[in-house]
Amino acid sequence: MPKQEFAIGQDGQAFDDVQALVQRHLLIVGQTGSGKTTTTLALLHRLQELNHTAIVLDPTGEYRHLSHAVRYQLGINAYLDPGHLTVDQLCQALSLKLGPVLREKLHSAINALRIQQNLVQTAQPYVKLGVPIRDYQRQLEQLGDWARSYQPRLLARQLVEEFIIPCTDEKVDYSLLGQDYARQQISQCWDTLTTIRERMVSREFRILFDPDPQRGQVKTDLFFALKMFVSQHTSRRTLVIDLSALRRFGPAQRVVISLLMKQLLADQIQQVRPRPVTAVIDEAHRYLPTDLHDLSTNGIFQVLREGRKVRLSLTLTTQSPLDLPARLRSQFTNLLIHQLTTPEELAALSQTSNWDRTRAARLDPGEALLWCQHRLKVIRVQQAQRC
Ligand SMILES: Nc1ncnc2c1ncn2[C@@H]1O[C@H](COP(=O)(O)OP(=O)(O)OP(=O)(O)O)[C@@H](O)[C@H]1O
Ligand SMILES: [Mg+2]
Repeated sequence: MPKQEFAIGQDGQAFDDVQALVQRHLLIVGQTGSGKTTTTLALLHRLQELNHTAIVLDPTGEYRHLSHAVRYQLGINAYLDPGHLTVDQLCQALSLKLGPVLREKLHSAINALRIQQNLVQTAQPYVKLGVPIRDYQRQLEQLGDWARSYQPRLLARQLVEEFIIPCTDEKVDYSLLGQDYARQQISQCWDTLTTIRERMVSREFRILFDPDPQRGQVKTDLFFALKMFVSQHTSRRTLVIDLSALRRFGPAQRVVISLLMKQLLADQIQQVRPRPVTAVIDEAHRYLPTDLHDLSTNGIFQVLREGRKVRLSLTLTTQSPLDLPARLRSQFTNLLIHQLTTPEELAALSQTSNWDRTRAARLDPGEALLWCQHRLKVIRVQQAQRC
């Protein structure tokens, strides 16, 4: 098949330097139907031809049919080990607001379940009544990084086991974890415990955390899949991680995308001579925290700030620059601007200060204003041919 350039300029000249485009963080914006996904697919096709490594976090499944890609689909051949999530991240994913007592208990419950899964090797909760503190501490000390996994569906039952207290009579023994249940406290938390139990057995969370093979296909932990892809020299240099199974559960998708971005950054940092990698997220505004205080702990923001040092760049698409917090917008050097309806949207990008602010409103689908290497071009992106 003859090679197809990425785009044609208004002057009829081809623009094909896609590596320059993704060498820096690239923001693709435009109203719905203006061509963002088509442009991203065309970019990915050209990057494939150039053997450039690209990792697509696909929250909608739109990149499922991208050819010549390594593909992981959550719930089919991929899962996420819950041990990768901190207590805070787990609460965010479950949309749970817990008070300090229950957060502490959740932390202890996760440790108890890690002991059950990795040391005792049983799929039952840890009954702590009558267990000597010394024995429990010894088990905790054995929990290394290798023993992160646990059974999340047991969390609510394990939380009940965390509410234990010493006897109130002469049989009291302070060398034990506890001798009786704190029934009143358990009753007070019962609603929250029920919510946790229900969420953990809901379809979305079973899909997310369940490592059991389905339809005869082995499932791979997404962190492991990412690490292997980044560190190994396979011939296919595009990885698509399809998270569409979580489509109706935005908070969980947001946490997973943030975690994967952090992990990708960590994997690149670990490489002695990292190869250039471009991460791609479509409709990214949906996956950014709404609370600006959380921005600095978000993986997308961390990659924007620190990725370039380890040759990791980000390509984000979103409908309007105004969807993104200003601190995040300012991290993009390169811009590809499809049709934007209002001049305020263009004005939100600092690079556009000398431009005709109404220009972006007159673009047809597939046309774009391209800002790359400090030069402005008007281009028409060439729709990638499927092969
Ligand atoms: N480069 C192009 N050449 C020709 N047609 C195009 C091009 N880009 C987009 N189109 C047309 O516009 C339609 C919408 O494009 P696309 O799905 O890429 O938009 P989008 O900005 O991703 O929309 P959304 O915000 O709804 O996801 C395409 O189905 C196609 O018909
Ligand atoms: Mg789209």
